[in-house]
Amino acid sequence: MPQRFYVTTPIYYVNASPHVGNAYTTLVADALARYHRLRGHRTHFLTGTDEHGLKMEREARKQGITPQAFVDRMSQRFRDAWKTLDASPDAFLRTTEAAHREAVQKYWKRCEARGDLYLGTYKGLYCVACEEHKTEKDLDEGRLCPIHKRPVEELEEPSYFFRLSAYQERLLALYRGRPEFVRPEGRLNEVVSFVEGGLRDLSVSRTSFSWGVPVPGDPKHVMYVWFDALFNYLTALETAPTDLREAFWPPDVQFVGKDILRFHAVYWPAFLMSAGFTEAELPRTIWSHGFLTSGGGKIGKTPSGEPGTLSPGTRDPVRIAEVLGADPLRYFLLREVALGQDGEFNLPAVIQRARSELTETVGNLLNRALPFAKHFDCKVPEAPEARLTDAERALRARSEALSLEASRAWDAVCPHRALEHTVELARAGNKYFDDQAPWALAKKGELDRLAVVLRHVLELVRAVAVLLWPAIPSRSDALRAQLGLDPMSPREEMDHWPLSWGGLATHAALSPGQPVFPRYDKLTEASLLKELGVEAQVEKSSEVKPSEVNTAPKLEVKNPEGVITYDDFARVDLRAGRVLQAERIPKKDQLLRLTVDLGEEAPRTIIAGIAQSYAPEALVGKQLVLVVNLAPRDFGKGLVSHGMLLACGPKEALSVVTLERDLPPGTRVK
Ligand code: MSP
Repeated sequence: MPQRFYVTTPIYYVNASPHVGNAYTTLVADALARYHRLRGHRTHFLTGTDEHGLKMEREARKQGITPQAFVDRMSQRFRDAWKTLDASPDAFLRTTEAAHREAVQKYWKRCEARGDLYLGTYKGLYCVACEEHKTEKDLDEGRLCPIHKRPVEELEEPSYFFRLSAYQERLLALYRGRPEFVRPEGRLNEVVSFVEGGLRDLSVSRTSFSWGVPVPGDPKHVMYVWFDALFNYLTALETAPTDLREAFWPPDVQFVGKDILRFHAVYWPAFLMSAGFTEAELPRTIWSHGFLTSGGGKIGKTPSGEPGTLSPGTRDPVRIAEVLGADPLRYFLLREVALGQDGEFNLPAVIQRARSELTETVGNLLNRALPFAKHFDCKVPEAPEARLTDAERALRARSEALSLEASRAWDAVCPHRALEHTVELARAGNKYFDDQAPWALAKKGELDRLAVVLRHVLELVRAVAVLLWPAIPSRSDALRAQLGLDPMSPREEMDHWPLSWGGLATHAALSPGQPVFPRYDKLTEASLLKELGVEAQVEKSSEVKPSEVNTAPKLEVKNPEGVITYDDFARVDLRAGRVLQAERIPKKDQLLRLTVDLGEEAPRTIIAGIAQSYAPEALVGKQLVLVVNLAPRDFGKGLVSHGMLLACGPKEALSVVTLERDLPPGTRVK
């Protein structure tokens, strides 16, 4: 029997469209579900929508439609959003489904039969946005809900109560006996002190509106929306086309935001105990994550303009995915924010994270390696064991070790750590590539060695793609496609995690194509951000010199040795130049003579020591970066250089500094 894994998200209120905060919970759960699928575990990932309650009824009324029509429309938005974001739930539960409503009534009756439900009168305060009863001490000044900053309402009505107070000791015993019931640890402490502070019975029905599950035997009452909602995790299994309760109950990980931890860590286990569940049948871990914030405030569904919210475009995850693709957003949410903590969300940071780690680290490695495949008929070259050096052995060991570390991080539900290890592996691949200098091997015709190097880089990219799959499935599959592999399709009982080296088939056809991760220039980036409602001041900021933006009072700072001021740097005149001609120089096998257009009256002659790295014809037409105010340098025999090009790398494998975009010759480098 394969190991099994059941993961859930909260079910979302449908009073407004999903925002990035909701997407966060869903994507964390999705990535974890995908990880377990890759490990061959029998996995079930549940999400859905929470559709009853006063909030929905009021919103529907505002829009002049029936609550059912309203929730139908809104629930679909969540389904569509998760699809756009590549989330892969196995089931999507709606609390308005008849089967769920009936199943919840069954559990209500069980709690009633145990004597845990009794009729009384509720008199007190209620926050409709939280759908939660409040006491004075819960509130901010002016009787405002501390989460929604809105006034709470006063209620007085007949209500059924759940005997929560009777569960105080059993709950405390649960937390003591199974501290992993609430993660992270700090949150467990909060829950424990809340319960130790004494539990009051909970009002679990309402009579002043009707949009909910009727209380069995007393249909004037509808169930409190949280009683109805929490049971979804169970009813979803029982009401599935084939009963999944046997296979998956209890949940392994239930993700919840910290705002709804109390419902899940206190009320939920109490309801289950009351319905007859033993301690072993309670969920294993309630995992409480932090908030995505903007300017420090929680991003929420309330209209824009309130403190801490973003403009509607930029908090809409669907819009973001349409403009940037789902994966940069997925990557950012999983990589940037340590689960459990709050994380500041902004779109330039989303782009930046993807650029530095996906484009420039993972994508770059593949882009640099694939061109060498032309020496092997564009197929995966063979790397016989006998030809391996210590460098390959070290690379393999590193790949296996980092894959193991990444799996441990996923097992511990630390996506950001898992991805950190993943990027580290890609970095190790880049270093190996640089150290082995395949360009020099190609040049010297050392094809056996080149085959070994290329094979190792390709294998490493394959491993990285697998490690990335939980987080960015679409781009991971795109990497695989270039390696000639089918999209990942995990099978139960088959562990796909790259714990041991290798996986490509020798001579399998490679399929180089467009770069998997886009590289945006500043202007494109600014226009993408603009589409999402973020004004990036590219033009201005590129004109502004660091010395001009520093408004802090000037301090007399003595520069440490080796540090120059901006003014020192500005004395070097760097310009873009296009190579018009390039030729070898007889008897000077290190040097090339270049004729370079720098936008001046006449082109300049530049003598450059790059003959071992470049054939002259490879340079013609290239845009280089040159120092143009360097005193002319005399190489003897009439050879004078009127400037110096920039290059880096080892002597026999130099790489000239070029421009990413074509610019007029003579453009200044700043
Ligand atoms: N319907 C209840 C849950 C019932 S589960 C039995 C609910 N819905 S919600 O739509 O308001 O929130 C759903 C999830 O989104 C919660 O986990 C909540 O913490 C999360 N988030 C909402 N805003 C968030 C951020 N700004 N950041 C991170 N997560 C946030 O509560």
